[in-house]
Amino acid sequence: MKIIVTGAAGFIGGNFVHYMLKQHPADKIICLDLLTYAGNMETLAPVMDNPNFSFVKGDIADRAFIYQLFEAEKPNIIVNFAAESHVDRSIENPGIFLQTNVIGTSVLLDACKKYGIKRYHQVSTDEVYGDLPLDRPDLYFTEETPIHTSSPYSASKASADLLVQAYHRTFKVPITISRCSNNYGPYHFPEKLIPLMIANALNDKKLPVYGTGDNVRDWLYVEDHCSAIDLIIHSGRVGEVYNIGGHNERTNLEVVKTIIRELGKDESLIQYVSDRPGHDRRYAIDPTKIKTELGWEPTTLFDEGIKKTIQWYLDNKPWWERIISGEYQDYYGKMYDNR
Ligand code: NAD
Ligand code: TYD
Repeated sequence: MKIIVTGAAGFIGGNFVHYMLKQHPADKIICLDLLTYAGNMETLAPVMDNPNFSFVKGDIADRAFIYQLFEAEKPNIIVNFAAESHVDRSIENPGIFLQTNVIGTSVLLDACKKYGIKRYHQVSTDEVYGDLPLDRPDLYFTEETPIHTSSPYSASKASADLLVQAYHRTFKVPITISRCSNNYGPYHFPEKLIPLMIANALNDKKLPVYGTGDNVRDWLYVEDHCSAIDLIIHSGRVGEVYNIGGHNERTNLEVVKTIIRELGKDESLIQYVSDRPGHDRRYAIDPTKIKTELGWEPTTLFDEGIKKTIQWYLDNKPWWERIISGEYQDYYGKMYDNR
C-alpha cells in the first residue's frame, strides 16, 4: 500500500505516521505538509531515515502540485489531516481556514476523482455537531446528529465533510470520514489547552482559563485516534461516517487542576480570563458504531494518558521550548495580554 498522509508534520498526523510505520512496516508512507506555523519537522525526525517514509513540502490547495504528486506516486490511500486546526485563530482570521480546510479538501477530492483511489479518508472533528448543553449529561453526538457549527473552524470542517460526501454520491469517490473528540498526547502544539497549560505551569506562568472553566471536552489519547483511523481505512464501509471517542469527559478546570497536581504546582497559577466568543459548552461522543462495526476500543484512560503526556513534555523540553520561544510569543501576547 502507498499512503499519502497530509498534515503529518502536525500533531495527530505525526503520531499517525509513527503508528502506521510500526503497525504496517511494509506500507509506503508519503507525508505531504505545507509546514505552516503548526508543522514541525522535528516531529518527523524519528522516521526520516525509514526507507518506507518520504516527505514532500506542499499545499493541499495547490492543484498543479497535487495532480503532479498523484501522477508521480499513484497512491492507494489518502488520509487528510492537513488543516488549520485552532478555533481561536479561526476567530481572528477565518479566511485561511476556508482556503485550506475547504478548498484544499476539494482539490484532494478532484485528484482522487481524476486519478482513481482505493480510499480517501477525511479526518474530521466532533465540532461539526456544535455543542451539547451542560445540564444534559445523557446526550451524546451520534453519526446522525445534525451538523450545526459554532466557529469558523468547525464551519470549515463541516463544509469539507459535505464536499467529501458529495464526491462520494455524485462521483463515486470511495471515501470515509471520521469525527473525533479532542486529542491529547505527544507533539501537541502548545497553543492548545493541555500542552499550553503544561508549558505554562512548568514555567510558573499564569494558566489562562476561559470563562468559568465549566466547559466540557471528551479527551482521547492520540494513539487511540490513530488506531481507529487505521481500522477505518482498512475495514470501514465506503461512504460512512464514524465517530471516535472514549467517554473521557472532563471540565477544563478539572484538566487544569490535574496538570497542576501532577506537576506539584499551586492552584494560584489559575487565572480566569474573558471567554472565547461562541464558546462550545460540551462535546461528548457516542462511539457505538465504530465499536460494534469495527471492534474499536480506546486503550488509554484520561488519568493514565495525562500522566504519559506530562512525562513526554518533561522528557522533550527542546521540542516545545523551541516553539514557544519563536513567533509563538507574538501569538501569545496578542491572544492573552490584557484578556
Ligand atoms: P495541527 O494544527 O497540529 O497540524 C496541522 C498540519 O497541517 C500542520 O503540520 C500544518 O503544517 C499542515 N497544513 C496546514 N495547512 C496545510 C496546507 N494547506 N497544505 C498542507 N499541509 C497543511 O492539527 P492537528 O491537531 O494534528 O489536527 C489534524 C486534523 O485532525 C485536522 O484536520 C483537525 O481538524 C482534526 N482533528 C483534530 C483534533 C484535535 O483534538 N487536535 C480532534 C479531532 C479532529
Ligand atoms: P482547545 O485546546 O483550543 O480545543 P477546542 O476548542 O478545539 O476544544 O481548547 C479546549 C478547551 O479549553 C476549550 O473549551 C477552550 C479552553 N481553553 C482555555 O480555557 N484556555 C486556553 O488557553 C485554551 C487554549 C483553551
